[in-house]
Amino acid sequence: MSEKPEHFIIDGKRLDGRRRDELRPIKIELSPLDRADGSCYLEWGRNKVVAAVYGPRELHPRHRQNMTGAVVQCRYNMASFSVDERIRPGPSRRSVEISKVIRQAFEHVVFTKFFPKTAIDIYIEVLRADAGTRTAGINAASLALADAGIPMRGLVSACAVGKVDGEIVLDLMKEEDNFGDADVPVAMTSDNRITLLQMDGRMTTEEFYKALELAKTGCTTVYELQRQALVEKYDNEYQAEGGLDE
Ligand code: CDP
Repeated sequence: MSEKPEHFIIDGKRLDGRRRDELRPIKIELSPLDRADGSCYLEWGRNKVVAAVYGPRELHPRHRQNMTGAVVQCRYNMASFSVDERIRPGPSRRSVEISKVIRQAFEHVVFTKFFPKTAIDIYIEVLRADAGTRTAGINAASLALADAGIPMRGLVSACAVGKVDGEIVLDLMKEEDNFGDADVPVAMTSDNRITLLQMDGRMTTEEFYKALELAKTGCTTVYELQRQALVEKYDNEYQAEGGLDE
């Protein structure tokens, strides 16, 4: 693990040169996996994640089926080689918790009632981690769900906010996440309904509301990138099929 830096913000710039309210660069690729119903590969700074969605498909074992709607399931996994110190393969307390909160971030956004007795499975694989993997996973999963054609109230967009050197900053990188004062991952729909909110560390109430406002602006930027990625994909497919008939 890297060492705690003496300062996180020097002359108004963070360790990687960003402003306090700046996101790391995001790159999105839709449908990289042709065997999944929907998929998305996403890079966010030095994070690399892939999300795959299967379903709606019949849920087994049957006693887990819900007669009034689909069951959303999620598995978040970090590859052994995704961090400096090799991670033991298989579930850990951390991955079980993250899988659960990501599932909850989508449960009330997906129109599950259209698909009784089925499962909608979300798989998130983290290939390279640099803080913010759950938020990167949510952004990728949201697009993978849309790519699978699963009806939703809207896209879910996520980013973390936090506190370092006593200041509120957007989108923590690893050193800020590991050694900062607070880390607050947030996910929300485009009409600002929060579907995930966690907090590690401490903030005053005033700082928390300031951080939440900053998270909103971060999620709005992420949403715009997600929307663009979808529009580009469907536009390209439409053009490939011959576009408008003259
Ligand atoms: O990734 P996220 O910020 O959602 O979750 P976290 O539990 O706050 O982890 C922050 C970062 O610590 C991860 O993204 C990894 O870069 C790193 N980490 C690690 O190096 N080894 C682990 N076993 C878990 C996390």
